[in-house]
Amino acid sequence: MANEKQFKLNTKYIATRGVEEYRQTIEEWVKPYDKILEIGCEWGTTSNLIQKRCRNLIATDISPDCIERARLKYPKVRFETLDAFNIKTAMELGNDFTKIYIDMSGLSSYRSLLDVIALLTMYASIFEPEAIIVKSGSLKQFAKNSIAWNHQSLSRQ
Ligand SMILES: C[S@@+](CC[C@H](N)C(=O)[O-])C[C@H]1O[C@@H](n2cnc3c(N)ncnc32)[C@H](O)[C@@H]1O
Repeated sequence: MANEKQFKLNTKYIATRGVEEYRQTIEEWVKPYDKILEIGCEWGTTSNLIQKRCRNLIATDISPDCIERARLKYPKVRFETLDAFNIKTAMELGNDFTKIYIDMSGLSSYRSLLDVIALLTMYASIFEPEAIIVKSGSLKQFAKNSIAWNHQSLSRQ
């Protein structure tokens, strides 16, 4: 159920399609002063690219096997196990993340759109980051077809 706080959130949602677009955002969105939480890091390829621009990164994945492999591959990055839906554990990792990167299996199909929006809203409400960058083709398509109504639009008619 929507509430007043949700409408006041300033977090921007950056929707990308495919891993290439997801990684392209790093150059524009990741700043050296950021504190970043990455969700769904798998073997750490994107984590390593983020870490090159910002040292304050916690990269996470639900799979302990992925985390073990990522730690061996990129020993300078901090990797932790996390199920994105376990928000209490996410909060134990910090409360001042400025950007959140999310690439979880299953978030791209059209059927997953509501799950994506619920996940983004939960992370935006709790952490109030400046931006959440998400790999989700369904969200990108939805965003492309959306227009935030603004009364001034009338003057264009
Ligand atoms: C496509 S891979 C991520 C690829 C990675 N971002 C990269 O750029 O190389 C998706 C990852 O989401 C993880 N995942 C799936 N469900 C998750 C959940 N509930 N919480 C956290 N990670 C999850 C999987 O274990 C998998 O490693």
